[in-house]
Amino acid sequence: MDGRGLVRSVKAVGVVGAAQGVRAVRAAWRRRRTDAAGLPARGAERARVPGPVTGADPGPGGGVIHFERSELQVMVTAAGAVFWGWDGAGPEPSYALAGRCPEPDARAVLEPDKDGGWRVVAERVTVAVSRHGAVEVRTPGGVVLRRDLPPRWWEPLEGGGARWVQRSEVAADARFFGLGGRASGPRLRDGTYRLWNTDPGRAFGPAEDPLYITMPVQMVVADAGTHLAFHDSTWDGTVVLHEGEDGAGSGHDRAGSCELRMAGGPLRCWVVVGSPARVLHVWTLLTGAPAVPPAWALGHHHARWGFGSEQEVRRIVAGYKERGLPLDAVHLDIDHYDGHRVFTVDQERFPTLPALAEELRRDGIRLVSIVDPAVKAEPGNALYDAGTAADAFVRDASERPVLGVVWPGDAVYPDFTDPRVREWWGGLYEERLRQGFAGFWHDMNEPVSFAAFGEATLPRSARHALDGRGGDHREAHNVYGLCMARAGYEGLRALRPQERPFLFSRSGWVGMQRYGGTWSGDVATGWPGLRASLSLVLGLGLCGVPYSGPDVGGFDGSPSPELYLRWFQLAAYLPLFRTHAALRAGRREPWEFGAEVLEHARVALAERRRLLPYFVTLAHLARRTGAPYVRPLWWGAPEDRALRNCEDAFLLGDCLLVAPVLERGAERVAVRLPHGRWYDTVTEEAYEGPGQVLLEAPLSRIPVLARAGAVLPVRGDDGGLELEVWAPAPGRKGRGLVVADAGDGWEEPESERYTARWKRGRVVVEREGDAGRSEPSRPVRVRGLGPA
Ligand code: GLC
Repeated sequence: MDGRGLVRSVKAVGVVGAAQGVRAVRAAWRRRRTDAAGLPARGAERARVPGPVTGADPGPGGGVIHFERSELQVMVTAAGAVFWGWDGAGPEPSYALAGRCPEPDARAVLEPDKDGGWRVVAERVTVAVSRHGAVEVRTPGGVVLRRDLPPRWWEPLEGGGARWVQRSEVAADARFFGLGGRASGPRLRDGTYRLWNTDPGRAFGPAEDPLYITMPVQMVVADAGTHLAFHDSTWDGTVVLHEGEDGAGSGHDRAGSCELRMAGGPLRCWVVVGSPARVLHVWTLLTGAPAVPPAWALGHHHARWGFGSEQEVRRIVAGYKERGLPLDAVHLDIDHYDGHRVFTVDQERFPTLPALAEELRRDGIRLVSIVDPAVKAEPGNALYDAGTAADAFVRDASERPVLGVVWPGDAVYPDFTDPRVREWWGGLYEERLRQGFAGFWHDMNEPVSFAAFGEATLPRSARHALDGRGGDHREAHNVYGLCMARAGYEGLRALRPQERPFLFSRSGWVGMQRYGGTWSGDVATGWPGLRASLSLVLGLGLCGVPYSGPDVGGFDGSPSPELYLRWFQLAAYLPLFRTHAALRAGRREPWEFGAEVLEHARVALAERRRLLPYFVTLAHLARRTGAPYVRPLWWGAPEDRALRNCEDAFLLGDCLLVAPVLERGAERVAVRLPHGRWYDTVTEEAYEGPGQVLLEAPLSRIPVLARAGAVLPVRGDDGGLELEVWAPAPGRKGRGLVVADAGDGWEEPESERYTARWKRGRVVVEREGDAGRSEPSRPVRVRGLGPA
């Protein structure tokens, strides 16, 4: 039993009892046996490289280049994304793509390159393929952004899928981001990152890798340009990153490198080049627009594992109310289930859930339900019986349902890679809607099976439908959470067609933003956990998943009042703003940390509420453009090397820069400002970027700066939408976009565009329309005008 396994079974024992620990041991043995019987033994293998080029055929958007032992299809899409696939791999089928593969760019041409190679030339990118199969992505000016060396495959002599390795080089100054949610990021330093969605089984800190959401998606930012590379294989893999070193004129440059090893799946890659904004836009055209959460989900959520009863929920809600603290959602964890069985309610402790939901809704508070995938394996359990009758559960190679261990004990797992099962599962949310739940929190969907040693998931030999193709858990594992999210999302759309579903999911993969967001999982209480939780939000945003946030205060233990407050202040500026904690962790209500913390938390809550219209605008922008709400400081200036290394401050949309306190005792933070004028939103003091500034960060607040010229939609005292305008720098213009909330349905809200400019010593704000400029119909408040 390794250390992690021990921790995991202790967690299981600690929470559910000794029987669970024994089950975890049994489950681990079972998994080993199943794999030994169900997976082919890895016999002798033969290595292969493409070999020399033999010819090429033009095709839509590019063509096919033939090598002695492989072939490579290259295709540029109309939006400028580049696809290439080896050995006949095409873009479909794919769990990542939002729909069919996009149309090829009819103007992209395949032509001979020097030294016997070939190249595909398109408007924004050139893809050059050497005669031995190295693939270079170049800017139209000819600068190389990425060079993939010829790949290498290892094929079993007995037949079957190959594993492969792909080495790539990037510029010496390039920085890596992405790979899903990484606790050590957002800048991914030298190291090995695994591509296998994993519940670490304990609260995690920055050193924990991998976590719940891994993605073979790299965002690479270099002087010469930004690109995103996605290797579309769902199999287990590792990525080894080495940042390059810049000789700075006196030494040699050492290129950055990346080595991707995949246990299987097609060797195919998508690359998007351009500014970060363009890359994310094209990326979400390809993999899907992020779902827009309802406005209430952009407010404050309070969760807890172990509310234990309706009375306790009422007590917490009353606590918020009495103190005048805004609250928008309450989340019920597994303890409201009957015996930890999903889609049930403990009638003794939650006897009038629909009435409670209704009561809360009248106060503007929504109820959110946890949904775990595993179904208690117990004849007589209605869900188990129904799933068995529908043949919904994952089976092993000998056709027996795979048994795992989760909160309810022995459990079986719906095969979400089967469209039939997704439909069945989606229908089950009807029960949740009847109970009055308005949102859904998918958990344990890596998927988890407690194991006393080895991996805490399903056996790799477990069979999956894989949407008609058939295969095993080696291929299905990483998309299990994604497919569960799809099941929930599509089910909710069918059940409540007029409402946008709200769900967020612990595990997922490329494209999960189509269905909802995520949260940072069981982040460890402590200052390193606070930093890790920001890293996850930033990294996921760069992979196309813009809606996420941490458990405020951390998942386990008890934060100090200072740590709790700093976490609270950070999360008030993140898309998902939720307090949550484990069963036996300390309290997390804002009033549990003393009067001072309460007062400062109140300010953070009030500011979040005031900024709600801005969050709504950012949610719509994310859907329309792919731009995450939370962006790294280099978003608008990727060529600024100093900004690339800044990891502890971030941009919230175009208008705000947030500099959280991530260190104990710190009452000042050093921030590197992007170009332009920035105002401290409290003191209105102006700072000029680029450059480093030291900002005061007393316990009462974290520094938040507004960009000069920003037009920010905020909630006025009367609840109406107002424009907060930050004076443009002299001689400059400002602008802003407002997308007003149009309710929880599908109606497309109108965009309002504003400009702000200086005119005869005054800042004039106007609305831009088809018929020209007009006076804004909303109240305007200009700030940053200096001392009166
Ligand atoms: C997992 C989740 C956590 C939840 C707990 C009990 O640890 O990550 O958020 O509270 O399970 O359901």
